[in-house]
Amino acid sequence: MTARVNLIGTLLTIAAAAGLAACGGASQKPEGGAQEAATAMEARVDKTAFGTTENGTAVDLYTLKNRNGMIVRVTNYGGIVTELHAPDRAGRFDDVVLGFKTLRPYLESHPYFGAIIGRVGNRIAKGRFTLNGREYTLAINDGQNHLHGGLKGFDKVIWQGQASEVADGASLTLSYASPDGEEGYPGTLATTVVYTLTNQNELRIDYMATTDKATPVNLTNHSYFNLTGEGLGDILGHELMLAADRFTPVDAGLIPTGEIKAVAGTPMDFTTPSTIGSRIAQVPLADPGGYDHNYVLSSGGGTLALAARVREPKTGRVLEVSTTEPGIQFYTGNFLDGKLTGKRGVTYKKHFGFCLETQHFPDSVNHPAFPTTILEPGQTYRTTTVYKFTAQ
Ligand code: GLA
Repeated sequence: MTARVNLIGTLLTIAAAAGLAACGGASQKPEGGAQEAATAMEARVDKTAFGTTENGTAVDLYTLKNRNGMIVRVTNYGGIVTELHAPDRAGRFDDVVLGFKTLRPYLESHPYFGAIIGRVGNRIAKGRFTLNGREYTLAINDGQNHLHGGLKGFDKVIWQGQASEVADGASLTLSYASPDGEEGYPGTLATTVVYTLTNQNELRIDYMATTDKATPVNLTNHSYFNLTGEGLGDILGHELMLAADRFTPVDAGLIPTGEIKAVAGTPMDFTTPSTIGSRIAQVPLADPGGYDHNYVLSSGGGTLALAARVREPKTGRVLEVSTTEPGIQFYTGNFLDGKLTGKRGVTYKKHFGFCLETQHFPDSVNHPAFPTTILEPGQTYRTTTVYKFTAQ
């Protein structure tokens, strides 16, 4: 409740500071026909049926619209962002996230397209950690390691959805109670994720959680972006800036070695903007290569700060990612191999999307020198990440 009030308070503050920020909005309507057009000038959110799971549970699809005509669709299966329509410099909208048109392929195997990741995003070495003198063993689902919450992480559960129109946009609150012992984790974790599409063309994600036993928590969103439009080629020509001058080097299993290394003079350096493809071939990562690394944000985390800026030169679309997290996983869709077909009917090949997963560092639970991911009973986990879309 408090969190909700805080959120609305924050949005009111943003709205007051921004004044009539929406006046520069695009006049063209988003793709998808008359039904999809943002007819009203006010932000709103609608709910429709998205299908049923194998055991017959109904799944919903929420459509958030802001007053500029931007549309974000989110399903309560895995909290997945299925569509995100953003304007280019001519005001033309296109869907800039990878995903599927229907529920079915989400129920089958897919690489976390658009999903909420938890209880702990990224990897935990050998799925093991010790907490308060007790050893815990987690589900192993990535070689020898635990990845993105395990076999059935938060990306594969049904969330309770509550839509609302808020002061400065349209909002969807998703809740999930992860039972004690789920995927091996201690404690019941009451989790809330609030997606807000603001009238400043931001997708704001507020994550909250409480527990009844000490447990690691590291929530993120796994959207794959392609600012040209999903399915319209690779992302190697996108220009990237990362507000990070260090990263956490990894072993062959993508587990951090513990070292925190400067990016200067390496292909990891995006402190000044450069295209994603310019040095990707020199990244020392095992097959299939590419970027799949945690960057140590210069902000240090704790306050909402700019973490990344991506610009696609042809369309002029710009994505700015701000976060309260200390780290960000930059992943270039290295495992996409042309086997999955997206919403436009095009198969997703290697590097057809990039992820910027705001997070605590991978395997933090086994690295006491990294910022802690442990949530204690009585504490409230709170992080915020904002994806802002502009065009120039
Ligand atoms: C994360 C990981 C990658 C990969 C993708 C999903 O970003 O860091 O190694 O597992 O998820 O394919």
